[in-house]
Amino acid sequence: MTIKKIITYPNPVLRKQAEEITEFDTALEQLTRDMAETMYQAPGVGLAANQIGIARCVVVVDISEEEDERKYLVLTNPVIHDGEGKVSGAEGCLSVLEYEAKVNRFQKIRVTAQDLQGNELEFEAEDRFARIIQHEVDHLNGTLFIDHLSRLKQGMYKNKLRKILKNK
Ligand code: NI
Repeated sequence: MTIKKIITYPNPVLRKQAEEITEFDTALEQLTRDMAETMYQAPGVGLAANQIGIARCVVVVDISEEEDERKYLVLTNPVIHDGEGKVSGAEGCLSVLEYEAKVNRFQKIRVTAQDLQGNELEFEAEDRFARIIQHEVDHLNGTLFIDHLSRLKQGMYKNKLRKILKNK
C-alpha cells in the first residue's frame, strides 16, 4: 500500500469529470487500497480517486464504528437517486486547505454503485453517511463543496488561500 499525495484546489484535475470504471481488476483493487491508506493517513472520512490525480469513478468512504478501526466502503460508479430533505452541516475537504463551511445536502439518499468485483450495490444512506457520499460523488463530477457556497464566501476563501500559499 502506498500513501499518495492529495491534490488540492485549484489543481484542474479536481474539475475533471471522472471516467466510468469498466475493469474490475487487481489494478482497481490496488488503487482503492492506496486511496484508503491515503484517507486514513490524512486523516479524512472519504476520498475520491481524482483527489490523488486519477479521474476515474471510484470513492472510498470510512464506515468505522470504533476509533482505531479501519473499515471502509468502496463505491465504483456511484450514482445518487431520490434525494429527500435538506440539512445544513459543516464540511471540509482534504483537497481544500484549511477551510470548513456549512453546506446544504439531502438528508436521505438512495445510492446505486458497484463493488470491487463489479457486483451491483443499492442502499439507502442518511445524515452523516449520506453527506459524505454526496460530497464524494460531487468530486467525481468535478465539484467541490466550496462550489455550493455563496460568491462572497468563495471569494473570501480564495483570498485566504492566496495567503496560505504565499506563506508555504
Ligand atoms: Ni472532498
